[in-house]
Amino acid sequence: MDFKQYVTVVEDFPKEGIRFKDITTLMEDGEAYKKAIDQMADFAKNKEIDVVVGPEARGFVVGCPIAYSLGLGFVPVRKAGKLPRPVLEVDYGLEYGKDSLNIHKDSIKPGQRVLITDDLLATGGTIEATIRMVEELGGVVVGIAFMIELSYLDGRDRLDDYEVFTLMTY
Ligand code: PRP
Repeated sequence: MDFKQYVTVVEDFPKEGIRFKDITTLMEDGEAYKKAIDQMADFAKNKEIDVVVGPEARGFVVGCPIAYSLGLGFVPVRKAGKLPRPVLEVDYGLEYGKDSLNIHKDSIKPGQRVLITDDLLATGGTIEATIRMVEELGGVVVGIAFMIELSYLDGRDRLDDYEVFTLMTY
């Protein structure tokens, strides 16, 4: 399936010069959404994964159905102030901004094998912060799956030590 035909490229959003890859049009199509999730879940099969981790909000759109399809739990990574119990917090840089991310301290047990998922790899800041949190909690990152990679931003350079899957590359 040509997944790119379901993604809408929006010029100058959220600011001038950014060509925003809008996956909502892919999500609105049941067949395309299911096939995209199935292919990402296929990457994770046979990796003996214990838990799936994904950053809000679009990371939930891919991570939750992948976890469900694999019969695994899902651990949310959220922006500061959203998680109710004790958290580990890390700062990170975005393609267009800066923020900090949180994960519940007790959400990953030492030695657990983790699949990290997100909709998009841009600069890699979000996923690098997510990896740091998982590893600090003792988890082992055995794979990272994205719907979209913006290869011209070189985010993958930060992920040399990991097995990475991307459904679409721009
Ligand atoms: C977007 C996207 C990724 C991240 C990629 O999320 O969903 O998580 O940016 O950029 P990076 O590789 O440069 O870090 P955003 O923070 O905009 O939040 P959202 O999913 O809540 O819209």
